[in-house]
Amino acid sequence: MIRPKLQIALDHNRLENALADIKKVGEIVDIIEIGTILCLQEGSKAISCIRQMYPDKTIVADTKCADAGETVAENVARSGADWMTVICSASLPTMQAAQQKIKELQVELYGDWTFEQAQTWREIGLSQVVYHQSRDALLAGGTWGEQDLGKVKTLIDMGFQVSVTGGLALKNLSLFQHLPIFNFIVGRGITSEENPMVAAQAFKDEINRIWGE
Ligand code: 5RP
Repeated sequence: MIRPKLQIALDHNRLENALADIKKVGEIVDIIEIGTILCLQEGSKAISCIRQMYPDKTIVADTKCADAGETVAENVARSGADWMTVICSASLPTMQAAQQKIKELQVELYGDWTFEQAQTWREIGLSQVVYHQSRDALLAGGTWGEQDLGKVKTLIDMGFQVSVTGGLALKNLSLFQHLPIFNFIVGRGITSEENPMVAAQAFKDEINRIWGE
């Protein structure tokens, strides 16, 4: 089975704080995400700055784009992003327009998406989805559980590379142990810890423990 990658989500309000954290964990993680919050606060400056620091890492702009796919994709790609995200409720033309301008497009799954919709994403050639528990759902008492496994498995069976995210803690990873998860995306589970480097390494070690080195 494939070994999942580890993606850090930089959801800082200020670029300087994001830079302080990425300096601690940049060499440990596989993928660096300029989170939605940081994109909104600091825009393309954040992407280009982190691209300069990490020329060889995969960088994702978590734009959760809903419209103007071509322009948004062009802008983030020019700043140095390899991948970007669109929200699942974006129209197919928005996704297709974005797809033309960026190496990889990820569909962020929030709210009332359906597997029929997901099939249309496959049909236009998309291969990545991000299975998400929203911050707000988690704050309202939601947790990771068996209900998520079934949906993630169906998406994998449809041919998607599935990333998993949303308030992930170390203890959540084993829930997915029998599935070829593409990527675990972790924000606060690393950046809010007293020692982000130790926290990032602990996620890496747990992935290696469960899925093998
Ligand atoms: C918020 C996001 C976050 O970047 C993602 O969920 C990871 O952050 P955390 O681990 O802190 O929940 O996409 O919309």
